[in-house]
Amino acid sequence: MDRIVITGGTRLSGEVCVSGSKNATLALMAAALLGRGETVLENVPGVRDVEHMLALLRALGAQADWDAQDSHTVRINPESVATPEAPYELVRKMRASFMVLGPLVARFGCGRVSEPGGCAIGVRPIDQHLKGLQALGAKIRLDHGVIEAFGARLQGASISFDTVTVNGTQNVMMAATLADGETVLDNAAREPEVVELADMLNRMGAEIRGAGSDRVVIQGVPELRGVSHRVSGDRIEAGTLLAAGMITRGDVLVTGIDPVTMDSMLDKMRETGAQITTTVDSVHVRADAPSEPIRVVTAPYPSFPTDMQAQLMAVLCLGRSSSVVTETVFENRFMHVPELVRMGADIALDGRSAHIRGVSVLAAAPVMATDLRASACLLVAGLAARGETVVNRVYHIDRGYERIEEKLCSLGAEIRREG
Ligand code: EPZ
Repeated sequence: MDRIVITGGTRLSGEVCVSGSKNATLALMAAALLGRGETVLENVPGVRDVEHMLALLRALGAQADWDAQDSHTVRINPESVATPEAPYELVRKMRASFMVLGPLVARFGCGRVSEPGGCAIGVRPIDQHLKGLQALGAKIRLDHGVIEAFGARLQGASISFDTVTVNGTQNVMMAATLADGETVLDNAAREPEVVELADMLNRMGAEIRGAGSDRVVIQGVPELRGVSHRVSGDRIEAGTLLAAGMITRGDVLVTGIDPVTMDSMLDKMRETGAQITTTVDSVHVRADAPSEPIRVVTAPYPSFPTDMQAQLMAVLCLGRSSSVVTETVFENRFMHVPELVRMGADIALDGRSAHIRGVSVLAAAPVMATDLRASACLLVAGLAARGETVVNRVYHIDRGYERIEEKLCSLGAEIRREG
């Protein structure tokens, strides 16, 4: 099994370009099921979650594969979808698979998707997805762990989410594009990945207004068509590379990203004392000193993203005095804390908050990744730790980061993959 070995202590510097957004891509791939004809997605990251979604779409009967000429382009044609059933074996590997249910019931009148179950970072129920689809008139039933949704023609409805959910908003928004009449989604997620999905759907022929706000209005249309779309840069990968620059007191330019989607992250990074400058498609960070103490509270966009909580915590471990990180989105997203403590960090957990007392050095150690962002956090910590850190179970990181060790190596890191 692969592992990543990092010799810490090198100050990172230079320029690196991010890959396309993993989370945006997964929703866009599900949306391709709605369109007549082929959808072509460019700037797609070469990560395992994309492979999972391709396998899932093929299991449904769609043509779905990488372009023969371009390894960052995927082509999806749903015209041959025959069995709208997403098998457990694929869904359990990736919760985002559940986002095919809305498009399947809207386009093909029925869909069967295995109930995803919980994951390392939380229970993660899907009640809001089902609430929305039921409000649109889909009949829902649970059949031996499989959620079945069916309905001849969905009807527009007013839906208010009880909790802000990104994939829930995306799933129901996709279903509503082919419903009869108008749908209003209140307390909708405002993430950039929701906006990008609405943009592509509108170019497919949908009529969506208000994406990016907490009220989205969708006017149903009879059909949608396949389109070409270029996926935007990954704001969480960009944040991770900036954190790597900060913890090594480095000087790093990250390109291929829209800084506007990172405002809350960059504000918190500035509070640590790091110098951050931006252009329309890049962010530059320079950090010369230990981070100042800060308070971070994760919450839905536009607040600080939960997907960056662990990586910034690694930086704060080497900060001045005490910082506090509060996780409000997922109930079990501190799995990286015991591993950081094994590296010499001083962190006390108190309910949903982590109290981080800055230390002057971290010591390298063999550590275990537990989920995607926790593994990114351990990579960041290893870059500053004294000695050789070995990060095990890197399959977690390959789910959402494309060739991360090569990108860090290009900035001067002493890092290699073994296995
Ligand atoms: C998306 O997951 C992202 N995944 C996650 O990124 C990200 O952490 C999360 O949004 C929050 O920003 C993808 O886009 C593929 P939610 P999602 O539904 O949509 C509760 C990463 O590291 N909830 O917004 O599944 C839920 O339990 C991943 O790239 C319900 O109660 O997250 C959580 O506490 C990890 N009922 C909260 O809402 C529901 O029906 C937010 O979850 C749905 C969610």
